[in-house]
Amino acid sequence: MSSVCILSMDLTRYIQAARDAKEVGYQKYSDYSVGAVLVTTNGEVYKGSNIETATFDMCIHAERSAVDGALTQGISPEKFNLMVISTEDQNGEPPCGTCRQFLADFCSDEFSIYSDTGDIENPAEYSLGEIFPHAFRPEL
Ligand code: THU
Ligand code: ZN
Repeated sequence: MSSVCILSMDLTRYIQAARDAKEVGYQKYSDYSVGAVLVTTNGEVYKGSNIETATFDMCIHAERSAVDGALTQGISPEKFNLMVISTEDQNGEPPCGTCRQFLADFCSDEFSIYSDTGDIENPAEYSLGEIFPHAFRPEL
């Protein structure tokens, strides 16, 4: 994986941050919480949580919320290093298809995504290209 210098100690901290993000947000309708953190190459952490409304198609996914948080704080996508997510199930679930396409705009195929398995020492690990090959990235 291409992540810059990730120590297992740091990864544990990021997983905990994703778990913390899962405790907030607004999951009134599904009661299914997702937390995500976008980690920069400097080790800064931007959290995101899923947020639901009564019009279900307007749900904000935790992964996109984390990217949104980083971008609105002025972080350049070039500084995006990795993402960690923690779902309600903690069974190593990767991001959904729409989040994968969203991430593909900012992150390369080598971008690492870790997902909480419940064992904080052993998250599932994916690369974006592995779970979303042939991404739509036109030169516009
Ligand atoms: N959810 C996410 O936050 N990220 C995903 O990629 C998958 C789904 C949220 C949306 C909704 O609030 C809840 O999980 C159940 O689908
Ligand atoms: Zn999603």
